[in-house]
Amino acid sequence: MRIGLVLAAAGLGTRLKSAEPKAFLRLGDQTLVDRALAPFLLRDDLAAAAVAVPDPAVAADLLRHLDPRVRFVQGGEDRQASVAAGLAVLGEVDLILVHDAARPLVEEATIAAVIEAAAKSGAAVPALPIHDTVKEVGSDGRVKGTPPRAALVLAQTPQGFRADLLRRAHAEAQAAGVRGTDDASLVERLGEPVLVVPGRRSNFKITTREDVLIAEAILQARAQPPK
Ligand code: CTP
Ligand code: MG
Repeated sequence: MRIGLVLAAAGLGTRLKSAEPKAFLRLGDQTLVDRALAPFLLRDDLAAAAVAVPDPAVAADLLRHLDPRVRFVQGGEDRQASVAAGLAVLGEVDLILVHDAARPLVEEATIAAVIEAAAKSGAAVPALPIHDTVKEVGSDGRVKGTPPRAALVLAQTPQGFRADLLRRAHAEAQAAGVRGTDDASLVERLGEPVLVVPGRRSNFKITTREDVLIAEAILQARAQPPK
């Protein structure tokens, strides 16, 4: 099975307030893009990786990966457009994984679980149960209700799809003017099943300064496992 990866790395990192685009921020000695790519590139069945970035001309210089499977492409206005740009250059593969560069701590086991479930069912996402109580809040700042959390999960990436299904989902969303914050939602609206596999808390999305500190602490713990 030939696997393709689209890495969404074209965001600006507005909430992080960093000087450079978030994906090029360094965690230790490596950028978020480098770290996010690494576990995917370890796989022999990964045929191609398309990395959507704000500026492909500078990206290749900044990154240490000179893996011939990796190519950079200009991202778009929103995440969905960036993923679409990646899909356009990915070439012929059987299964496509879509991952956020803002999740640099993704582990090989999560990638393997998503691939296995997506190959079986057509689409799969890693997700976490919700531990906090969830509130629905109105624009006036008042709580409207407390939805039962048992049926709710937090979706992560990498999300995996049979290639034809993901391409059709993007094309149909584009035609209908639908914008989704993840790729699975575009597949769901076609009525196709999406399986959930266990996510990891460490595979969280770096959004704020505080998240950078947490990621650094996790990396440090991985480098020095407890005796
Ligand atoms: N992304 C992208 N193209 C965009 C917007 C986002 O490829 N036009 C990517 C980001 O690079 C990130 C992922 O989508 O890896 C998730 O987006 P988010 O965490 O919102 O990152 P940013 O958009 O960079 O951050 P912010 O919203 O704070 O500006
Ligand atoms: Mg964003």
